[in-house]
Amino acid sequence: MNQTILILDFGGQYCQLIARKVREHGVYCEILPFDAPLKKIIEKKPIGIIFTGGPNSCYRDGSPLANKRIYNLGIPVLGICYGAQLTAFQLGGLVATGPREYGRQMLKPKGGRLLEGVKKSACLMSHTDYIEKLPKGFKVTGATQTCPVAVFENEDKKLYGVQFHPEVAHTQEGNKILRNFLYNICGAVGDWTMGDYAQRAIADLKERIGDKTVLCALSGGVDSAVTAVLIHKACPSLVCVFVDHGLMRKGEADEVVRVFRDERGMNLIKVDAQKRYLDKLKGVKDPEKKRKIIGREFIRIFEEEAKKIGAVDYLAQGTIYPDVVESGKKGKGKGKKGSAVIKSHHNVGGLPKMIDFKELVEPLRDLFKDEVRVLGLKLGLPESIVMRQPFPGPGLGIRVIGEITEEKLEIVRNADFIYREEIVRAGLDRSIWQYFAALLDIRSVGVMGDARTYDYTIALRAVHSVDGMTADWARIPYEVLEVVSSRIVNEVKHVNRVVYDVTGKPPATIEWE
Ligand code: XMP
Repeated sequence: MNQTILILDFGGQYCQLIARKVREHGVYCEILPFDAPLKKIIEKKPIGIIFTGGPNSCYRDGSPLANKRIYNLGIPVLGICYGAQLTAFQLGGLVATGPREYGRQMLKPKGGRLLEGVKKSACLMSHTDYIEKLPKGFKVTGATQTCPVAVFENEDKKLYGVQFHPEVAHTQEGNKILRNFLYNICGAVGDWTMGDYAQRAIADLKERIGDKTVLCALSGGVDSAVTAVLIHKACPSLVCVFVDHGLMRKGEADEVVRVFRDERGMNLIKVDAQKRYLDKLKGVKDPEKKRKIIGREFIRIFEEEAKKIGAVDYLAQGTIYPDVVESGKKGKGKGKKGSAVIKSHHNVGGLPKMIDFKELVEPLRDLFKDEVRVLGLKLGLPESIVMRQPFPGPGLGIRVIGEITEEKLEIVRNADFIYREEIVRAGLDRSIWQYFAALLDIRSVGVMGDARTYDYTIALRAVHSVDGMTADWARIPYEVLEVVSSRIVNEVKHVNRVVYDVTGKPPATIEWE
């Protein structure tokens, strides 16, 4: 059994990020609601407890409180933001409201165990309430210019608090502070790895699913691939449906069949729907219409296949933690209220209400993308799938600008293949977040040999991004662009011009449609 850190969730937006940071330090952790019964907390035998931040004021009626007996269990407690205020408040200190403080502040350490070895450095503050007076027995061990009690501790009782957020990247010494808590204060030994995560997840899935039927929509993307392989380890009878809509990149559909069916012996149903998609998309130019058709057809095909399979007990989805946040929490598929529709994103998130199944299985729900990748590698998936760059659900359908035809798909597929090959050759594939070719809806005049050409334009796109929400265009060396451009016009028929997109997001989006 792994050593366990318990995270009590007081409603803070960074709860999962704290969990992820703890895992990054090689320590197993579980998140429980703030009001989890004390018995349950004790049963977990945690080596330490972390209280998250939260939007409330701890002195107001109805605010979430911790069971005060937690402070006397002799288990180290680290309160973060609201969690720190709560610790001070519940043990007799004073918490008051001040002006909202958001942003980086310079943290000045003043000794103490939590800040051992921590240098004067920036930390991220995001709070309105502040600790005015600490309870007896506590001392201040860190302050900023605006926040006199930024860090405190009571070493005898093993209680610690930080007003800022050590879990975010803006806090320069955040990792060290968390490490001090985990290793020096809680006595962690770092006995957890992603392999343990896989084992635990497989055991849980086995228990939950038993010999029932599970259906999984496989797109070939990282998340659905890791989900399928993980579930397959627990439930070998898993049925995967892979819809080949003809909008995949070069070689991708074959690779999915090879990796999942041929190499792993998984039960994979490949639906050849290229013609069906081309028919439905014929004459459609509007990007939103294209997206809707592609998404709707996907659901229809999936439903048809599900019907053929018969009663399905579980539907598996590759939902990862950022999806849960983006779809407006708890994965109900709703967007944030009041936000504008920029693009109707298509992925399997829309499936559940259409298909008759008993329950959803989402084994990656708590993981971040890079953790999913590590897990995929642990499960033996090839790097070509696990390290794959993001690829939109509607695929090349939104990279052929305007009307989609078989010929245009072939052109963009070949141009994209050359581009990707050269980016890898130049050693840039790991440092660029996403790169692809789009085929524009214009033709222009060129000259080849001694003859006039009137042909298509390929636009190359490459961006740096963290989460796809904002992006900066990548400064690819001219020499690399030159090779890509010259190969594309020479090797791909009907292209006589290549341009490079130098717009960030915003104002552009990453995809062209
Ligand atoms: P945009 O073009 O909105 O893209 O700046 C941001 C990121 O999302 C990807 N993308 C999609 N992913 N379904 C997806 O799963 C979609 O419909 C979709 N549209 C865009 C895009 O490739 C980029 O990584």
